[in-house]
Amino acid sequence: MPHRAPGSPGHSRQQFLSGKPIRYYRPKGSPDIRQLVDEGFQAFNAGRLSEACGIFSQKMLDPAEDTTIGLTVAGALTPAGLGGCVIEMMERGLVDFLISTGANLYHDLHYALNFTLHRGSPFVDDVALYEDGVIRIYDVLFPATVLLETDAYIRDFILRSGLDGPIATSEFHYRLGLDLLEQYPGCEEHSVVARAARAGVPLYTSSPGDSSIGMNLAYHELMNNSRLMIDPNRDVNEVCAIVLAGKRNGCVILGGGSPKNFYLQAQPTLWEVYGIPKGGNDYFIQITTDQVVWGGLSGATPAEAVSWGKVNPGVLPDTVVAYCDSTIAFPIFCEYAVGSPNGRRQRKELVHKRDELLANLVRDARAAREKRASDASALDSPVSNVK
Ligand SMILES: NC(=O)c1ccc[n+]([C@@H]2O[C@H](COP(=O)([O-])OP(=O)(O)OC[C@H]3O[C@@H](n4cnc5c(N)ncnc54)[C@H](O)[C@@H]3O)[C@@H](O)[C@H]2O)c1
Repeated sequence: MPHRAPGSPGHSRQQFLSGKPIRYYRPKGSPDIRQLVDEGFQAFNAGRLSEACGIFSQKMLDPAEDTTIGLTVAGALTPAGLGGCVIEMMERGLVDFLISTGANLYHDLHYALNFTLHRGSPFVDDVALYEDGVIRIYDVLFPATVLLETDAYIRDFILRSGLDGPIATSEFHYRLGLDLLEQYPGCEEHSVVARAARAGVPLYTSSPGDSSIGMNLAYHELMNNSRLMIDPNRDVNEVCAIVLAGKRNGCVILGGGSPKNFYLQAQPTLWEVYGIPKGGNDYFIQITTDQVVWGGLSGATPAEAVSWGKVNPGVLPDTVVAYCDSTIAFPIFCEYAVGSPNGRRQRKELVHKRDELLANLVRDARAAREKRASDASALDSPVSNVK
């Protein structure tokens, strides 16, 4: 059968798209949920989730700790409606920067552009969906036109922006967010990308070519002879610079995948590559369905991360992995945090500090390189060989 885009004339999508619209859920700090977590979640993975809530709300958010908090997002969480949790966390200063799959940021744009994703069933006939031009992400259903129109917006934005040359994903997403705010006023209530721009939260993507945003960037290069391209080196250095500047560092990892490592590699980059002895993370929370036994990074435990210098050896009590579906655990986690006494912090607005932080990284890296050179020459000198 020759390939064609999903959908054929004469078919009705209505039967598949009759489910309720998926809306971003915004946690409000429910005392009942806090009570459930404190009193009801006592053992097994409920116990781990309760621990995670406690570590985050009492320790990581403690103003005296001044922890720089990274949130990594993998799995199809914005299609499932979890972007509202991320928006609330950013607005309240509870996360300072994000590393996400491109897919989550791409699908977030549908909400900004006011397209509707629908609740549905995972047990549907996918050939019929294809005939009807309906796209399925497990039980989330939406018309293929949503993809086409979102892609068209991305390409229009790229042209409008005049961007040309290498650029960090943080800058690309910031500019994209500003464009959304201008074109669709008020959309920051419904969009992670727009809210991040408004709240000054840098958004990174660990694999920028691997999503429809990357696909449209590639189109722009080929069809418009553009020199706009994502510069992963800049991303690596910015994330390092943010971690280096943190008085304390901690992460909340949703799923696993490349965003998890992109965050955790900052400390090895600092000590192993730049020679800066920053130390590892002070806090590590992961909510995942990934198992440790397959040896992959996604399921690797905080204890394994200690051996890489990613997590400080003394802090294992402040690390926890809850083996849960993030679509269940993360809204509960956010309700708990929002309702805690530390449920609002002053935002760091790191998007505006990236150049300054990078300059500090360069300064420290140069000092480390000079120290290494002078240590090496001291070792080589005849005096050092005299016992
Ligand atoms: N159109 C698009 O732009 C598009 C669409 C889909 C995926 N993608 C790309 O494909 C890649 C894979 O995306 P992905 O995030 O779906 O990867 P994935 O499904 O491999 O999930 C990533 C990690 O999160 C875990 N995970 C997934 N769902 C979870 C859940 N509900 N609860 C707990 N853990 C969960 C997985 O076990 C895995 O470790 C990404 O790079 C993404 O950008 C692009």
